[in-house]
Amino acid sequence: MEKIQTQGVAIPRLGFGTFRMPGGGCQPVVESALGLGFRHIDTAAMYENEDAVGAAIASSGVKREDLFVTTKVWHDRLGRGAVRKAFDTSLSKLKLDYVDMYMVHWPSADMDLPAVLEEMMTIKADGGTRAIGVCNFNMKMIRQAVEEVRAPIAALQIEYHPFMSQARMLDYVRGKGIPLTAYAPLAQGRAAHDETLQKIGDKHGVSAAQIAIAWLLDQPDVIAIPKAQKESSQRSNLDALKVKLDDEDRSAIAALPKDRRYVKPPFAPDWAA
Ligand SMILES: NC(=O)c1ccc[n+]([C@@H]2O[C@H](COP(=O)([O-])OP(=O)(O)OC[C@H]3O[C@@H](n4cnc5c(N)ncnc54)[C@H](OP(=O)(O)O)[C@@H]3O)[C@@H](O)[C@H]2O)c1
Repeated sequence: MEKIQTQGVAIPRLGFGTFRMPGGGCQPVVESALGLGFRHIDTAAMYENEDAVGAAIASSGVKREDLFVTTKVWHDRLGRGAVRKAFDTSLSKLKLDYVDMYMVHWPSADMDLPAVLEEMMTIKADGGTRAIGVCNFNMKMIRQAVEEVRAPIAALQIEYHPFMSQARMLDYVRGKGIPLTAYAPLAQGRAAHDETLQKIGDKHGVSAAQIAIAWLLDQPDVIAIPKAQKESSQRSNLDALKVKLDDEDRSAIAALPKDRRYVKPPFAPDWAA
């Protein structure tokens, strides 16, 4: 699978999301994903499945260096000293010696961003993580992280799918050599039922969900991390790597509404800033 090189790491462009699979039930699902060939797993302390993801990795037989594992620190753990504590807990749950990417899951209104990033950089310098990244940052925050703090941000993870534009953010991160990891790439499953995507899928003999993934991966510097509990969907998402869109498909997807943000927790930052 194609990988994106960034800040000394190589990230597989198609990853596997694990949100909304808390507890042990997540283990067989991740085992199945690893068995089918996913090599990039996205988890977070908040998903309450790091133990299960770690157990799946241990039983998979996949060599550690062939895997890309991301986990994240929740926004109530961004105080001084708290990030390191949260990180140690995550690593011990995952039963790994290191992760490949450690991310701020959501910013918090009262965080001291330079201090948070300094702590993440120390974890990286100590070998706990190979790279650091941020999720759900608005333009002001990502600019501060990159231009003021000069943190080695290896990826920005944000909501991105055919019903939402991230043109402004993509433009910025591309200019800085930072890949954009698209979360909720299937618009939390909605893409699978979209008529336009289905029509394009019919033309290529594939599903609407596969078209959504192909559309994201058609764009340079974009990584997608669909979650799929069903084995058939996991297989089908991997097969989306083979789908090649044409200009007619791209125009039809460009004409879809682009203002649909589905992940809107009360603690989200001001997206316009
Ligand atoms: N950083 C953040 O704040 C943040 C926020 C949200 C998500 N994420 C990450 O991004 C990952 C993906 O986002 P998400 O899980 O919210 O949504 P998603 O990947 O857009 O959609 C997942 C849904 O799509 C369904 N699906 C998957 N493949 C399909 C296929 N081929 N055909 C039809 N339906 C299919 C799944 O069904 P089944 O599971 O039932 O098979 C599930 O209901 C998360 O798991 C998480 O790792 C990060």
